[in-house]
Amino acid sequence: MKNQANWQDILIQCRNNLQDKIKPLFRTLIQSQPSLGIGAGGDPKNRIDLAAESAIIDTLREMKIPFTLISEESGIKKFGSTPHENFVTVDPIDGTTNLMRGIPFYATSIAISSKPEMYTVHTALVTDLVHGATYVAQKGKGAYRNNQKVSPSKTDSLETAVIGVDLNSYKTQKIATQLTNLIKKTKHVRHLGANALEICHVADGTTDAFIDIRGKLRTTDIAAAHLIAVEANAEITTPEGRPLDAILSPKEKVAFVASANKKIHKIILKLVKP
Ligand code: IPD
Ligand code: CA
Repeated sequence: MKNQANWQDILIQCRNNLQDKIKPLFRTLIQSQPSLGIGAGGDPKNRIDLAAESAIIDTLREMKIPFTLISEESGIKKFGSTPHENFVTVDPIDGTTNLMRGIPFYATSIAISSKPEMYTVHTALVTDLVHGATYVAQKGKGAYRNNQKVSPSKTDSLETAVIGVDLNSYKTQKIATQLTNLIKKTKHVRHLGANALEICHVADGTTDAFIDIRGKLRTTDIAAAHLIAVEANAEITTPEGRPLDAILSPKEKVAFVASANKKIHKIILKLVKP
């Protein structure tokens, strides 16, 4: 079994190999992409997502690490003779639509846990593949961006806050009132299209909150960013204010509110209460 410190180095190695592997593929993005079927999370697969995923798998296999992969692309796969020792939850590319369109905002997300459950995640990495920022966290040891400890903002009013809201339509009718309540009171609303990275932006004080109350986001997308937010001392709960305990699976969905501090979290929860 690897300890937490080893895992952080291993995840950095995964990131380095992944970046090397996907770089040459960017050149082909303007051509139409072959259809590769549907991934475990329900979205169409494409070459970049698969190359990113296989870079992570290959890195771990070369290091002879036994693990169970929980991936948005390939679903659940076991490697080595004791795969239950480590669970590796991966979203190889978060923000695929941005990447395919040339919108410079997408990331890779990897979370390591002892069980396929969010509360057991002990090491996490989210790397911004465009701007060279890598966020890491280890349980009990804080969250870091490029080796600098991060903390969320102290903003406590919606008047001055910058709030990310996932506006990708899904059950729009059902959540319209809650969203309207929040948007009416907020001056600066954003959605950049890569939710793991947008949660990291709350963790490091770039924005003041990020909410996704659609109940559509897979736990594979949020597993790593969740630990980064918690370790940065941000607030991250369900819209009802409960801890975000969830099973790690490409089929499992969550709704959540991530905020910079308790005060603004309380204000947002009141507005988006189901
Ligand atoms: C998507 C992004 C997007 C969110 C979608 C996710 P993907 O991730 O995080 O912001 O609105 O629900 O699926 O599909 O690019 O990994
Ligand atoms: Ca993805």
